[in-house]
Amino acid sequence: MEFNIALLKGDGIGPEIVDSAVAVLEKAADKFGHTFNFTPYLIGGCAIDETGRPLPKETVEGCLASDSVLLGAVGGPKWDDQPGDNRPEKALLGIREALGLYTNLRPAKLYSALRGASPLKDEIVGDGFDLLIVRELTGGIYFGDRGCRQGKYGEEAFDTEAYSVTEIERIGRVAFESAMKRSKKLCSVDKANVLESSRLWRKTMHRLAEEYPEVEYSDMFVDNAAMQLVRNPRQFDVIVTSNMFGDILSDEASQITGSIGMLASASLGETTRGMYEPIHGSAPDIAGQNKANPLATILSAAMMLRYSFGLSAEADAVEEAVDRVLEKGFRTADILGDSADVPLTCTEITEKVLEEL
Ligand code: IPM
Ligand code: MG
Repeated sequence: MEFNIALLKGDGIGPEIVDSAVAVLEKAADKFGHTFNFTPYLIGGCAIDETGRPLPKETVEGCLASDSVLLGAVGGPKWDDQPGDNRPEKALLGIREALGLYTNLRPAKLYSALRGASPLKDEIVGDGFDLLIVRELTGGIYFGDRGCRQGKYGEEAFDTEAYSVTEIERIGRVAFESAMKRSKKLCSVDKANVLESSRLWRKTMHRLAEEYPEVEYSDMFVDNAAMQLVRNPRQFDVIVTSNMFGDILSDEASQITGSIGMLASASLGETTRGMYEPIHGSAPDIAGQNKANPLATILSAAMMLRYSFGLSAEADAVEEAVDRVLEKGFRTADILGDSADVPLTCTEITEKVLEEL
């Protein structure tokens, strides 16, 4: 099969980790007899430097014309003084919206080889956990009305959280369907004791739950969910939540796996064209030093193979190659833990994955 992939390398370590994932995709194409064509486009700070805008029109058009999109990371201190609507991060929101990517799948699993890296006690980690956060990605406070005005105490700024039944229903369906494919357990996280938008969220989820009687459904307030994730992460399988709660909880979930450098994500909409990216950021402090952990981006590429191209054997092969690299004890600096070993560089660990593949 032949597919066109848009590459949004972005800033910081973005170019290094995307190059690693491209090498792995090329190897997979070779091994399984496919052709992947890669076209790079600018996004984030590097796009501001070249064009003045974080999300140039050519980038949006290029992504829309491609079969799928692989993204590294955007942002860095260099662009911190940009006005709010011209920040590198704004490009991420823009591309998610332009591609209609309302679903964000963020799996957080504890690799058995990396168990020691989890900051949780052994008795809490038990035999490990494997959860999936389904985050709504194009609605809520990230996209609501915002502005500045004069208020009771003088100058104030505001952002608004709004969710329509349509938006809640479509992300809810993805979550219930995901639960059906996994352990049939779904927890919806909201703040329905305070927020009107959460009450509509909960009511809509309950209606959907009636359509999925096989799914063991529960609700949880977000503050409790934040606590339960560190108290007993094994109680969860699929979690569905709003844009902002999902942003926060997925960072927490990644941290308890001990290795934010390992976690991949898929952003999906109504078509098979998705956007795949590691959930860590651009790590400007180590950019250009060949120290970055490319495994999350490589695993994101595996998600692309699975979700956008329907190539599950290929996706399995990449994921298994990463597993074997970890089982053999190869580590980049971020997942080295207490070991006295010398960490591998970004290109070295990529080589190991290619060998296993
Ligand atoms: C993420 C990031 C982004 C988000 C930022 C960089 C806009 O934190 O993908 O989790 O909040 O969605
Ligand atoms: Mg985040």
